[in-house]
Amino acid sequence: MAECAWFERAERVIAGGVNSPARSFRAVGGTPPVMTRGQGPYLFDVDGRSYIDYLAAFGPLVLGHAHPRVIERIKEQAERGPLLGTPCDVEILLAEELVRSIAGLEQVRLTTTGTEAVMSVIRLARAATGRSLIVKFEGTYHGHSDPVLVKAGSGVATGGGGLSSGVPAGVIQDVATLPYNNVKALAAFLASRGNEVALVLTEPIVGNMGIVAPLPGYLEAVAELTRKAGALLAFDEVITAYRFNYGAAAQMLGVIPDLYALGKIIGGGVAQGAYGGHRQLMQLVAPHGGMFQAGTLAGNPLSAAAGLATLEVLRDDPPYSEMDRLAAILADGIADHAHRWEIPVTINRVGSAFTVFFGPTPVVDYEGAQASDAGRFAHFHRLMLESGIYLAPSRFEAWFVSAQHGLDDITQTLNAVERSFKIMARGD
Ligand SMILES: Cc1ncc(COP(=O)(O)O)c(C=O)c1O
Repeated sequence: MAECAWFERAERVIAGGVNSPARSFRAVGGTPPVMTRGQGPYLFDVDGRSYIDYLAAFGPLVLGHAHPRVIERIKEQAERGPLLGTPCDVEILLAEELVRSIAGLEQVRLTTTGTEAVMSVIRLARAATGRSLIVKFEGTYHGHSDPVLVKAGSGVATGGGGLSSGVPAGVIQDVATLPYNNVKALAAFLASRGNEVALVLTEPIVGNMGIVAPLPGYLEAVAELTRKAGALLAFDEVITAYRFNYGAAAQMLGVIPDLYALGKIIGGGVAQGAYGGHRQLMQLVAPHGGMFQAGTLAGNPLSAAAGLATLEVLRDDPPYSEMDRLAAILADGIADHAHRWEIPVTINRVGSAFTVFFGPTPVVDYEGAQASDAGRFAHFHRLMLESGIYLAPSRFEAWFVSAQHGLDDITQTLNAVERSFKIMARGD
């Protein structure tokens, strides 16, 4: 069956044809190819066409698709029963590995998604401080619970406006959204309303307005101002944990938060989230404490096994320096081709993740990301897809290089970039 027919079928029975709006091609035009399989750095569509994949399922697939050690553990675990509904050995092993490798994480709770992890961090901070107000930053994305859908990044930004209908005004009142990388704005806000703030929530390196790293000294200042206000600091490391180093990005950046939200890589491609922090804070969670949070599928053995296998590979055979090297070759190559064909681009790269913004000015916040050229990105995206390169269908997402990409993939991708820029420069 042709891929178009498959997507038509999807549109009939799935809202918008996609189970998450970030997968839609609305911002870039056309319809997404329908995939049937992934292997290593490649995706394969229903017509047997292959693509070099830089989407990495929006981040989890740091080991590429269907890594043999991960698949073996999933199979083993499936045979023992994918869900037991009781404490089980493999969830404890995963929790131990998380606590061992993330600074400041003494206890965790496993959840099924990153959304739930963030939702729980917010509730826990409110329970711990007795305050209601949450501070977050424009263009970050923290999942799809009500309080974090105000001026949000990722699919919320791509769809336009960064807002969701259906979020009650009462919820919005308890959320302040400030510009990222702007110490003055945070200092001014906390000077007037700091004593109402329960939580300052941020992605330490933002992945959801494209990759935007903290400016030197920014996170240190955020931590200091937050603590002075008597509020808690949470890092949403759903994308960043285990992406750049074995552990949290917080360790790489030298700023340790009170609470973490985790997800993506720690599930090895299966549904998984987690949140946690100091033991004292986690004692507030039910059944010890009065902050309720639960989940039928939370800590399910299948997700825990896939996550644990992924972490073991990352720990025992760290791919980080090679991923970094390949991503640098790719990002530098894109910059060279752009220069040659006089296409203004700004590339923000941190390790194996980067974003190509179509515009000449540095991007340090959401305003800068929004100023990039949406039409040019859409054209580039279409041309790259024609050449068999799968990129996230939004200018507010990242390219992720995985442990399975090789130099040949990078060379092939750079050839596709050159072809695309050549066509764009001609104005075809
Ligand atoms: C930083 C961040 N936090 C939270 C989430 C939500 O995670 P999930 O999609 O697993 O609910 C995402 C998802 O993209 C994310 O990027």
